[in-house]
Parts: sequence; structure tokens; C-alpha cells
Amino acid sequence: MAAAGPRVTRIRRLPDHLVNKIAAGEVVERPASAVKELVENAVDAAARSILVDLRDGGAALLRVADDGVGIAAEELPLALERHATSKLASDADLEAIATLGFRGEALAAICAVSRFGVTSRARGAAEGLRLCGEGGEVTQRLAVPAEEGTSVEVRDLFFNTPARLKFLKSPAAELAQSLRALAQLALAHPAIQLRVTNNGKGALTAPAAKDVRERAGAVWGWDVAARLLPVAHAEHGVQVSGLASPPDLTRGGRDDIVLVVNGRPVRDPALFQAVLQAYRPLLPRDRFPFVVLSVTLPHTDVDVNVHPTKAWVRFRHPRLVHEMIGAALGEALRRRAVVPGVASVSDALTSAPAIGAHSGAVEAGSTFGGDAG
Ligand SMILES: Nc1ncnc2c1ncn2[C@@H]1O[C@H](COP(=O)(O)OP(=O)(O)OP(=O)(O)O)[C@@H](O)[C@H]1O
Ligand SMILES: [Mg+2]
Repeated sequence: MAAAGPRVTRIRRLPDHLVNKIAAGEVVERPASAVKELVENAVDAAARSILVDLRDGGAALLRVADDGVGIAAEELPLALERHATSKLASDADLEAIATLGFRGEALAAICAVSRFGVTSRARGAAEGLRLCGEGGEVTQRLAVPAEEGTSVEVRDLFFNTPARLKFLKSPAAELAQSLRALAQLALAHPAIQLRVTNNGKGALTAPAAKDVRERAGAVWGWDVAARLLPVAHAEHGVQVSGLASPPDLTRGGRDDIVLVVNGRPVRDPALFQAVLQAYRPLLPRDRFPFVVLSVTLPHTDVDVNVHPTKAWVRFRHPRLVHEMIGAALGEALRRRAVVPGVASVSDALTSAPAIGAHSGAVEAGSTFGGDAG
């Protein structure tokens, strides 16, 4: 039988719910992406305390509750719509983004692919409003008593997108991913209290911390935090600060290299390379340091509008940022070398095992997650 010839099909505009589902695919890859977006919303809302409850790592349930400014009842339905945001008002704002969110699509995306409930009470409002629904459709609207702040509950993520559901890994793997995202946000914002449970058990407890070392103690354990070297370097309008492990405190995976740009944890391969390069002469290739670096620079010098997940950024002067990170880490590692009683960097250099060999360095325990996922 002859193959059917090309068929002329009519072009049609996609219905809203399908547009939302397609867009959601880019924003919400897995439970960890939803957790990240919701916690970022809480940070943007000036929350001092954020509670995250997960079931099966977030695949069955994820709930993020904050004590931030809340959402006015009359605006709550709008908050769940695409392209609705309080964080961007003009074209100029897009050139200097100072908040973690700005696209106005995370809540819409999450609600499009889940059974959701959003409760919020704005500061000063007499009561709260709760909207519930599924697949992006609000089916219930209730005035409720509520604390000031916002709570978003997401059940059965991807219940209506079976293809995506199939790609979810085991609850343990999804939990590891969610905790990785949460640890990064916790390290980026030490002053905010963060408590995370999974299946009713504590998974991360980070009380409001006075500085990043105290926060690193909650996230990586005190044995690790106490040994981290301070990093501080400011030049050419770029400030780099944080903590970095000495070369004899390493891990087998790279999950504990956390890079934060203007308060946003980022996955920038070039910055990551800058960190690895600073350690290169000191570590074998299969060992990685603990690093948390906050890079602060003018908002106009960073473009965060690169990808729907907002995890990548573009710098106006990438080489400069790269060099500042190298300089900051180089200084921290050299400074350690002059502290009496601590093996010098040149010692470490000469005694470092051949590349690829096992370093014999301390494998520090993490308080959670390990290298899973
Ligand atoms: N936890 C929260 N507390 C207060 N307001 C919130 C909270 N979460 C969402 N909002 C409000 O709802 C709006 C929509 O949230 P949503 O996450 O969809 O978009 P966004 O944060 O503006 O941008 P992005 O899509 O980049 O995250 C926000 O602009 C904010 O006004
Ligand atoms: Mg948001």
C-alpha cells in the first residue's frame, strides 16, 4: 500500500490549559524544581521562616509554608495565572532583576501539573483565602483563618502528564534532589530559618544563622563547617565571599560546590570551572571541595533571563567574574598555608597523589543526601 502523502492540517491556536502544560514542562522538571520555586517565592516575600514538608521526596506531596508578606485575597487568583507577577513592572526592570522570581509563571506551572492548594493571608488582612484545584483549574475558593504568610501544597505532581511521571526516580533519589536544591537555598540565605521534613521525619534543620559558617554547620555538619577557610575578595565592583574547604577536606562528588550570584544559587559551568581550577594543583581529579561562594555584583551586570528554571545566568563581564573567583579562592588557600601548624599548600602540592589516584583525604560526612541521585 502506498504511504499516505503529506496531509494538510489546519493551524490552530492551542487551548490555554495545553499551553500551560507545555510551559510547565520547562519550569517543573521534577519535585525538586517545584520545591525550589516555592522556596524562592518565600524568600522573595521576605519570609523569616520557611517550613518544607515532603512525602516521597516531594513526588507524593510537597508543602512550603512561609511567614512572608502574603498575597492579598483579591490578587490570589491572579498569582496562579501565567505571566502574572508583582516583581516586574517595566522593560527597565528586566535589565536589573533583584528578586529570585520575575517570570510570573512558577505557580501557574506547578498548578498546571498537580493537585494544588494555595492559602495566603496578607500582612494586616483579617483572614486568609484558600484556593484549591487540579491541572491548573481552581475548583474551590474558601475564606479561612490563617497565619500571616503563604502556604502552597502540591500533591501528585505530574498526575496529568504521564510521560513526565514515568521519568521520576525512586523516592530516595527525588528526595536527594530536593534536599540538594534546599541546601543550596539554605546556604544562599543563612538568616532565614529553614526546616524540612520528609515522610514526617526531619531531613534538614537550619535555624536562623548569624553567618554562612553557622549555616554551613547546619547543612554540612559542624565538623566540616569548623574547618572551612574564609573567602573574601572585592575588586572591580565584584564581591566574592564565603567558605571553602582546605585541600584535605574533600568529597567524591561535586554536589557541595555551591555558587550563589546575587542571592541566587546558579549552575554556571564557567564559575564551576573557576573553582575547580583553583583547587586543581591541590586535589586529584576525582575529589571535590566543599565550597559556598556568594558573588555580589550590580544587577545590571547579570542577565538571569536565560532559561525558564533561572538556574543559569549570563555575565556582562564573564572573564572578570571568573578571575575574581580564582583570586578569592587562591587567597584563601594561600592564607591557610601561613597558619602555623597547618600543612602548607606547597607541601600539599608535592605530596598530592597522582591525578586519578585516591587522595586518602578525609571523606567528610554530610548531614543528609550523600552522593545519591
Ligand atoms: N510565598 C509567597 N508569598 C508572597 N507572594 C507570593 C508567594 N508566592 C507567590 N507570590 C506572588 O505570586 C506571584 C506569582 O508567583 P510565581 O512564582 O508564579 O511568579 P514570580 O515569582 O513572580 O516569577 P517566577 O515565575 O520567575 O517565579 C509573585 O509575583 C508574588 O507576587
Ligand atoms: Mg516565583
